[in-house]
Amino acid sequence: MIDQTALPPEIVLREGAVADACALAELDTRCFAIPWSEQAFAADLNDSGKTCYYVLEEEGKLIGYGGWWRVVDEAEIMNIAVDPHYRRRGLAMVLLAALVRQAQKEGLTAMTLEVREGNHPAIALYGRFGFEKAGLRREYYADNKENAIIMLKKLN
Ligand SMILES: CC(C)(COP(=O)(O)OP(=O)(O)OC[C@H]1O[C@@H](n2cnc3c(N)ncnc32)[C@H](O)[C@@H]1OP(=O)(O)O)[C@@H](O)C(=O)NCCC(=O)NCCS
Repeated sequence: MIDQTALPPEIVLREGAVADACALAELDTRCFAIPWSEQAFAADLNDSGKTCYYVLEEEGKLIGYGGWWRVVDEAEIMNIAVDPHYRRRGLAMVLLAALVRQAQKEGLTAMTLEVREGNHPAIALYGRFGFEKAGLRREYYADNKENAIIMLKKLN
């Protein structure tokens, strides 16, 4: 069940669908140095048995999303992003809460993710949500050889 209570009435949280692929790719260009393409989102959303996506909309405009992949009995966060004009309003926390709730509902035991070592807003967000550092992948990101921090949150 989707919990709308932490959101102002004009912002709607719902599950992502293949029809969102174009808007997701457009939002990604404003949030990431290496955005995903529409095709990549469509393929992921089509694989609904293995993926879970939530999106946030304001009057039909997509303003945030988050998703995870099931990897054996864990949920691996593929990404989470909020439109730059809507940041620091708690929207990423709402997305993360929905992603965690669904993973728990599906009986998954942990949630993991990789984050750029220099992405302090995201690291602060995950830390606030109870994720802990669990490892480091050196020079993981091809564009600037930045290290990736692996973070983990146990779900049971
Ligand atoms: C990271 C991101 C998703 C956060 O979205 P957001 O909606 O602004 O986050 P929230 O408002 O829910 O923030 C929740 C908490 O996270 C931390 N946080 C978020 N942004 C922060 C920032 N710029 N600096 C420091 N802490 C930050 C704070 O603890 C914040 O709580 P507070 O506002 O009460 O202090 C957003 O900055 C973003 O889309 N960044 C680009 C994409 C990205 O890097 N995604 C992560 C990939 S791993």
